[in-house]
Amino acid sequence: MANPFFPMNRRNFIAASGAALTIAGAGVRAQSRAPIELHTRMTSYAFGSHETHGLVSLADDAPPPVIKLRQNEPAVIDVTNGLEDFTTMHWHGIRLPNAMDGVPYLTQFPIAQHETFRYAFTPPDAGTYWYHPHCRTMNQMALGLTGMLIVEEPDEIGFDQDLPLNLKDFRLDEERQLMPYFTARGAARGGTLGNTMTSNWQISPRYDVPAGGLVRVRLAVTDTTRVHRLVFPNVEGKIIAWDGHPVNEDIAWPTEQAPLWLGPGQRADVALRVPDSEGTELDFTSLIGSRQHSVASIRSVGKSKGRDLAELRSLPKNPVAIPDLDNAKTQELVFGWTPDGNGQNNGLCGSSDYTFWSIDRKPWPGDAVSGIGPVANLDYGKSYILRLRNESPNLHPIHLHGLAFVPLRSNLRTLARNWTDTILLLKNEVVDIALKADNSGDWAFHCHVIEHQKTGLAGYVRVS
Ligand code: C2O
Ligand code: CU
Ligand code: CU
Repeated sequence: MANPFFPMNRRNFIAASGAALTIAGAGVRAQSRAPIELHTRMTSYAFGSHETHGLVSLADDAPPPVIKLRQNEPAVIDVTNGLEDFTTMHWHGIRLPNAMDGVPYLTQFPIAQHETFRYAFTPPDAGTYWYHPHCRTMNQMALGLTGMLIVEEPDEIGFDQDLPLNLKDFRLDEERQLMPYFTARGAARGGTLGNTMTSNWQISPRYDVPAGGLVRVRLAVTDTTRVHRLVFPNVEGKIIAWDGHPVNEDIAWPTEQAPLWLGPGQRADVALRVPDSEGTELDFTSLIGSRQHSVASIRSVGKSKGRDLAELRSLPKNPVAIPDLDNAKTQELVFGWTPDGNGQNNGLCGSSDYTFWSIDRKPWPGDAVSGIGPVANLDYGKSYILRLRNESPNLHPIHLHGLAFVPLRSNLRTLARNWTDTILLLKNEVVDIALKADNSGDWAFHCHVIEHQKTGLAGYVRVS
């Protein structure tokens, strides 16, 4: 192979990852359910009256499905690639064995057209997660391939309805055809925003819910760019989970003055009580400037169920190891611009031709590079404080694979100490996060504004 950045051929890679699997002791476990089969494909879809062509999904004329797994139950998911491009699938927020993480070159070889890769893992945590490709990410995610992944608690919590809302924009022209989703101008700034906001691929959908009932709304921002500022006017409810995990500390109910900021990659679960009278409509809104845009609404139907939020069982805690702060080492990581340079468009997963961003002033040079070390080396079982310093005026939802962490403090605001996998850094914000490095492997670590990720703001953390 002429390309010097192409690290290994397919056969070597499979042998190498098989070996790693044995060493890690992460053999495929017995399965209690039939494998879930996912087939990537091109599709068309009508967002309004016109068909949009050239979308990517796992179903014809429909968005990627909501996948449901159960906490502590083995899951097997076979991903077959029907696209001409290579792909992989990543299970965002799930703490799983490294070989199942779906990151090209770092944990697996990209999946070619007509090939199948078997992902097998047992989710240790219940809650709201999501999935997306990690190869040709900019392309495939912007064109639709983002879906929600729900890991159910072993016991019922007591809701009358579960309502996942996959918040994702599309960038469409007047004929409702796709416009370029990557712009150099956007990538060097806040990212390129879409112009058509959707929930579950629908524009401002309305869902019927039982009057007087209790509903769990799972909000997931799977967009490549948009940071939502959410407000739920007149809704009686509370935020019960954050980025998958039940909250440790309360999150203030959002208001127009203090909306809920939810960046790409982040999730919030809202428990709400539907009004008693039939036909009442309530909106979930995202602020665009000071205008409240309805991303979805609910309408009460039927005779009141007369439920009360106090009847809900509290969500059982997930088994995340608490970091030992007294013995934690601190390491700083700086996120910022980088002198404009040419990216190395190597490998099969569509690295960018540009670099604008960096971690510790080193831009990630492309997916298929070899010989690039981790941005942090963590000893297995030890606790760490990572000081995340945003040296830019742009927002960066910083995401770590494979581990959950907790924010400790910020130079700009008070942060609730809730477990997360993605933290939104504000302009010039410095946030200390803490974690226990209890999952070994090379874990991707990047900004979830995909244009930033693909132009340098990416790397990985090694736990060994
Ligand atoms: Cu949600 Cu590395 O990704
Ligand atoms: Cu992830
Ligand atoms: Cu960013």
